[in-house]
Amino acid sequence: IPQPPDILSPEFEADPYSAYRILREYYPLLHDPATGSYLISRYEDVQRAFREPVFTNDHYEWQIEPVHGGRTLLRMSGHEHAVRRALVAPAFRGRDLREKFLPVIERNARDLIDDFRNAVETDLVAAFATRFPINVIVDMLGLDRADHDRFHAWYKTVVDFFGNLGRDPEITAAGLRVSGELSAYLHPIIRARRAAPGDDLLSTLCTAEVDGTRMNDQDITAFVSLLLSAGGETTDKVLAGIFRNLLAHPDQLAAVRADRSLVVAAFVETLRYTPPVQMIMRQPAEDVTLSGGTVPAGATLICMIGAANRDERRYDRPDTFDLFRTEVSAARAFSAAADHVAFGLGRHFCVGALLARAEVEVGVNQLLDAFPGIAFADGTAPAEAGVFLRGPKRLAVRLTPRGD
Ligand code: HEM
Repeated sequence: IPQPPDILSPEFEADPYSAYRILREYYPLLHDPATGSYLISRYEDVQRAFREPVFTNDHYEWQIEPVHGGRTLLRMSGHEHAVRRALVAPAFRGRDLREKFLPVIERNARDLIDDFRNAVETDLVAAFATRFPINVIVDMLGLDRADHDRFHAWYKTVVDFFGNLGRDPEITAAGLRVSGELSAYLHPIIRARRAAPGDDLLSTLCTAEVDGTRMNDQDITAFVSLLLSAGGETTDKVLAGIFRNLLAHPDQLAAVRADRSLVVAAFVETLRYTPPVQMIMRQPAEDVTLSGGTVPAGATLICMIGAANRDERRYDRPDTFDLFRTEVSAARAFSAAADHVAFGLGRHFCVGALLARAEVEVGVNQLLDAFPGIAFADGTAPAEAGVFLRGPKRLAVRLTPRGD
């Protein structure tokens, strides 16, 4: 029997998927001394942990609160969570998304691509993927577009904070400074929007009311901070991931070019094959029995999405990227009734899933239109980095511009 993997080791970060296979097969429930948590890796167990209310989000660790400057949806449960979620969720779907925010998404993709439209080589992560979702959020909030760079700097500091896992004290300190800076920036704007609300997302957050509850300035600032990391880093990494996966499979890239309805299928398969969120924490309120044993009440459970997504009990040829596979319903993939776990499931199902789909569809389509040829600059797929959130740090590509 192989040794249990150490999820904080460099070997794990270099190749988590081999470690996940060992975990699923030999240690479906593993108490991990390095993190003091229990790891679960089989699809069946992970989807139960997301769906069943006994697995709460109340107390898990990892300093999420201080970095956002307040409690966010991610840490709430029960009635409080339902009310807070109802305050913000409508802005991320339906008419608001289609009519107000789709034009914002299209404009931001175009503006970024304009900067390298005639280039023959670029890094798609630096030039596009890390900027696009942040610029979209800033514009959705109705903030000054001249502040895109300022938000990008905050975003990078928070990404580094989470990637650092507390190892380098300077990175920790810089991450913890962001919420103060963001509050100082936002509070006067929030005051102005309360006095004279507009048609933007920040005004919606200022005025929304459910069950007599409204958000105060600190709640709003913490939510904006959550949007930068939950909505920024995930979309950033998945955009890079789609291109990485498609460029590594030129036949599938050609199929997507020829039939753009396959962009969504490529997105859904990327969410399975290389999900940006690899792990999510839960805390069972009572003792719970899962494959491999019982988790005691109050323990921290690490639900390994990246492992569940390659579970051979659930997926045929799990280590093959195949956008034509049929095990996941693309029609339900962006709703809480999804039959995959990359956005979570149940009450905490990703609020931004439809926004992410709109960003990915627009971004991928515009890039394919702008460049009839895209290939890895050095011929091979770049490495991925990160343990809890994961994706390529760079994606150097050779481009054939359209030239008209
Ligand atoms: C929640 C993944 C894009 C905002 C979640 C959760 C996951 C996730 C796994 C569940 C957390 C849990 O159960 O504890 C992703 C992925 C994305 C993405 C893979 C892109 C491909 C976005 C975007 C936004 C967003 C674009 C908004 C701008 C949120 C929020 C929550 C959340 C606010 C908290 C929901 C709650 O706790 O009720 N996301 N996300 N996400 N996501 Fe996303």
